[in-house]
Amino acid sequence: QKDQIRQGRLAGDRSEAILHFLASMDADRWIAEADLLVDMAHLLMLRRQGIIGEEPARALMAGLLDLHDTGLPESAFNERFEDIHAGKEAYLIERVGEEFGGRLHMGRSRNDEVATCIRIRLRSEMLGMMHEICGLRQVLLDAAARHTETIMPGFTHLQYAQPTTLAHHLLAYEQAFARDSARLRSTYERVNLSPLGSAAFASTGFPIDREYTARLLGFAGIAANTMDAVSARDFALEAISDAALCMTTASRFCEELILWSTTFAGFLQLDDPYCSSSSIMPQKKNPDTAEIMRAKAGSVAGELVAALTIVKGLPMSYNRDLQELTPHLWRGVEAARQSLPLLAGMIQSASFNTDRMQSEAGKGFSTATELADVLVREFDLPFRTAHRVVGRAVRHGSLDLATLEAAAADAAGISLTARGLTEQRLGEVLDVRHGVSVRVAPGGPAPAATAAAIADRLEAL
Ligand code: ARG
Repeated sequence: QKDQIRQGRLAGDRSEAILHFLASMDADRWIAEADLLVDMAHLLMLRRQGIIGEEPARALMAGLLDLHDTGLPESAFNERFEDIHAGKEAYLIERVGEEFGGRLHMGRSRNDEVATCIRIRLRSEMLGMMHEICGLRQVLLDAAARHTETIMPGFTHLQYAQPTTLAHHLLAYEQAFARDSARLRSTYERVNLSPLGSAAFASTGFPIDREYTARLLGFAGIAANTMDAVSARDFALEAISDAALCMTTASRFCEELILWSTTFAGFLQLDDPYCSSSSIMPQKKNPDTAEIMRAKAGSVAGELVAALTIVKGLPMSYNRDLQELTPHLWRGVEAARQSLPLLAGMIQSASFNTDRMQSEAGKGFSTATELADVLVREFDLPFRTAHRVVGRAVRHGSLDLATLEAAAADAAGISLTARGLTEQRLGEVLDVRHGVSVRVAPGGPAPAATAAAIADRLEAL
């Protein structure tokens, strides 16, 4: 088979180095199947519009259906063709002869062909990602439902801040992943438009029917302006960005799994299959899956930056630079699609040490905020005064009644016991369960609030 496209204008053999440099064959494996669908839709349209005769159309369709069943031969991926579009055309021409095989490319270009292929494959990858996010959200909601009463420390600045519940923490991630999914869904609308029929950029004088091919290929409509349609890759940039954001959420969760599984936190044990050991330290159980996932979020962010940078200087319309962008898209999507189910599995199989979480929850004066709030609600202090009194007591090292009373005198010139604060009430307020139980506002950590949230989120899911 010859490279059909070079026979006219260009002469001379090219070195392996040039061929390899120009070829997109590795990434084209992602779109080879879509390319056959694009060919079939284009061919059906050519026939329907009377642009191609019945005999060549039948011969071509037989060849395409065959290829669809058997898959493209390895020879079509040879780098001397530069890309799969040329490799596949050469194969078809060899198979049915140029008289018929040479008629398929009427009224189109590789520029609209490749853009259509990418959108078709990307659609199914995005649907896959959304499906996987749904699975992950379900796992989070199931785990949250088991842990509405599990008290744990809540952090700001990675310092113990206020007690919360494990359900509340898991629901925070479910909410973030729901947004990641919503972004994909929105991007999908812009991906799901057909560039086919744009040809090189200026469309074609053949009486084509773009709406028809768009419909056959399952698109919601056409990417109308033909110059924009062949040169636009913002749909891909959005998709990589969606993947990068989703991986960023996953990475944050991985970071917590890593922290929570340390010996000093001891909040959970990851299941052995997600961990690795050490070649020298026999005791080691390392959270490698979570670490690789955390790193992959960085790689996907890199794919986004690379892709944005490739596009930013490109004039209209098609430029070969765009070929260099596509592998970033596939790598971004692939990283997310590999990570999401693994993250779901890692969470589902983890065993949470709820006693340990609960025993840590009250440390670091984490109930101080609730105490200040109670001084406001029950003893009529302005919040800023209560904040100063409690803070002063913490500075003196304790929230017992005597220290608090001294702090109140010192920082506000008042007596809390004179206002009715008792040892017993103070003990109740400083209990971690108390602070959680009164945080019943929507979205909060109280068991009643998280139970309601879980019901809402399941409905949304
Ligand atoms: N392999 C190319 C790509 O991915 C296909 C389009 C080639 N078009 C061209 N004018 N050389 O962008």
